[in-house]
Amino acid sequence: MDIKVLITEQEIASRTRELAEQIQKDYNNEEIVIVCILKGATFFAVELAKRIESDTIIDFMKVSSYEGTESTGKINFTLDISEDITDKNVLIVEDIVDTGRTLAYVKKYLESKNPKNVKICTMLNKKERRVIDLNPEYVAFDIPDKFVIGYGLDYDEKFRNLPYVGYLE
Ligand code: IMP
Ligand code: MG
Repeated sequence: MDIKVLITEQEIASRTRELAEQIQKDYNNEEIVIVCILKGATFFAVELAKRIESDTIIDFMKVSSYEGTESTGKINFTLDISEDITDKNVLIVEDIVDTGRTLAYVKKYLESKNPKNVKICTMLNKKERRVIDLNPEYVAFDIPDKFVIGYGLDYDEKFRNLPYVGYLE
């Protein structure tokens, strides 16, 4: 299969650093609970967390809505967070926002646990595909409507380990 590079490892690294600085500033160095959405967001979440200098707690949730390359619209919720997020600054870290269904669901769920606030930081944003009104506070890259792989993103569980974001031609 022919994989074309859309965003290089270097571009991701420098943009991640910028976002981390901005996040730290916006939260006034207060503690942040990062909720990393498994499995896709792990690569991005790790790099982002490494660049945030304020106190950071890392937690995980597993939610999936995708099979193959088409959104099924059905959301499977398979792992819950383990930290108490009452009165905390919660930052959901995701690989990509597509229709917005997954994160709308996750955000609502986390908000029901009485946190101080819930914000979203996504590596990739496919704005054109949105079916639900959802605006992530932090976006590393807006991308066109292409099915992308790499840097955590999979096609049937493969290609997550590519060090760049690419697409299949
Ligand atoms: P949403 O609920 O439609 O926003 O779907 C978001 C989820 O679909 C993401 O967390 C990804 O797991 C998956 N997804 C959406 N677009 C892509 C893509 O281009 N490549 C790989 N996975 C994708
Ligand atoms: Mg995902």
